[in-house]
Amino acid sequence: MTDRPKKRTRVTVPDFLAAKEAGRKLAVLTAYDYPWAALLDQAGVDAILVGDTLGMVVQGRDTTLPVTLDHMIYHGEMVVRATRSALVIVDLPFMSYQVSPRQAKRSAGRVLKETGASAVKLEGGVNQAGTIEALANSDIPVMAHVGMRPQSIRRLGKMSSIQRDREQLIADAKAAADAGAFSIVLELIPQDIAAQITAEIDIPTIGIGAGPNCDGQVLVTPDMLGQTHGFKPKFVKHYADLHQVATDAVRQYVDDVHTGAFPADEHTHH
Ligand code: KIV
Repeated sequence: MTDRPKKRTRVTVPDFLAAKEAGRKLAVLTAYDYPWAALLDQAGVDAILVGDTLGMVVQGRDTTLPVTLDHMIYHGEMVVRATRSALVIVDLPFMSYQVSPRQAKRSAGRVLKETGASAVKLEGGVNQAGTIEALANSDIPVMAHVGMRPQSIRRLGKMSSIQRDREQLIADAKAAADAGAFSIVLELIPQDIAAQITAEIDIPTIGIGAGPNCDGQVLVTPDMLGQTHGFKPKFVKHYADLHQVATDAVRQYVDDVHTGAFPADEHTHH
């Protein structure tokens, strides 16, 4: 009898909440296309975030602001199709939810219907509590995002500013949790504030540059694989240098074609 691959079931929003209760850490990474999403899924991540960082790491822009809802849906659909077990969360891009809760419901509804993703993410806490509540009341699971919020770059001035206003950060996280968010990203905040938030709210906190006390961690996959051209902030660990590996391979190919070493006999039909 042949070994059949084990049927995997998809991580759900309640599984995310149960992980916090059980003290099991959640590993989250970003993906934007089919091959990477399939690899991450098979390697066992708990969730994949189709982040609007795609504006920077896929489209080569300086900020996430130009990303549109159609871009997110285009990439989200590929990621969902590639995955069997990871919970897929798709970012709502800049100005696809800030206008009103009604606009947010339209945008999030499109994301869930057209991509098959399980949840959306939006940036905000106190300022988006009404929108988070409206989405949650429409059965649209929402991940909130507080601390450094890339969509606020025009007000903040720079992408890497660490947020230290303890009262505001705690108020933001609590407002998001009270409004019905199922989870919350904490970006670039000191570890003691992240620890306090994690202890004081019931939903899982997913940190990026927020220290080890969060309920889970998220990284931008091309950052941790060394594919973002030397971008190495303190909070990123380089798990591989794929830029170097791929550059060496392509240089070898160019050389082989120029010298006639490729294709060899074994690559040739006779
Ligand atoms: O867009 C994104 O990839 C994100 C992560 C940095 C959390 O929001």
